[in-house]
Amino acid sequence: MGNVTVINHPLVQHKLTLLRDEKTGSKEFRELVSELAMLLTYEATRDLTLSETTVKTPVAEARTQVLSGKKLGIVPILRAGLGMVDGMLSLIPAAKVGHIGLYRDPETLTPVDYYCKLPPDISERDIFIVDPMLATGGSAVAGINVVKRAGSKSVKLVCLIAAPEGIKAVRAAHPDVDVFIAAVDDHLNDHGYIVPGLGDAGDRLFGTK
Ligand code: PRP
Ligand code: URA
Repeated sequence: MGNVTVINHPLVQHKLTLLRDEKTGSKEFRELVSELAMLLTYEATRDLTLSETTVKTPVAEARTQVLSGKKLGIVPILRAGLGMVDGMLSLIPAAKVGHIGLYRDPETLTPVDYYCKLPPDISERDIFIVDPMLATGGSAVAGINVVKRAGSKSVKLVCLIAAPEGIKAVRAAHPDVDVFIAAVDDHLNDHGYIVPGLGDAGDRLFGTK
């Protein structure tokens, strides 16, 4: 069974507070999403394997460690997941990036897919699906379905804010997937928005609506 990790680090919680604030404009919102994605990546990559190596420092030889070269992939769910990609790439620059386009039908709240482009060697990569918001969980479950159908055997989900309903849905559909989040909020409102949440992540990132 995969784990759900809530990252309570003070920097994460401080930045999340700024992100939620309705007075935060798109420029700062984008910067915060990127910084939060970087901080969550630090935790989500904690189990990467290392191998032994030797480097010569100016003083002596050091027996030390490097990443053992496991291939990684970042797959944002469009649109809002895009805001997390650069922050993640700053820590794992060799990762390939795939894209899954999904939007939530405002009436049924079910995800509608409109785009998919994934790295061809996805079955050899550890995949991070990224989306700031895990609300009903419909989009995350659909995104994970897509990468698994494409051959992925190792999937992690990285989100900023989750509703309990969304976590439950992902765990029921994909019990093998580890989930990393900065906060679990109270509930979903009648329109499927996370309460208190931060509003519409895509609109706040891109200044639409
Ligand atoms: C938002 C968000 C998630 C989804 C979460 O996207 O970025 O993808 O809703 O909701 P769910 O857990 O109930 O599926 P949205 O559908 O608003 O599309 P957008 O990013 O293009 O604005
Ligand atoms: N999508 C968002 O952008 N915000 C929510 O609160 C729920 C879904």
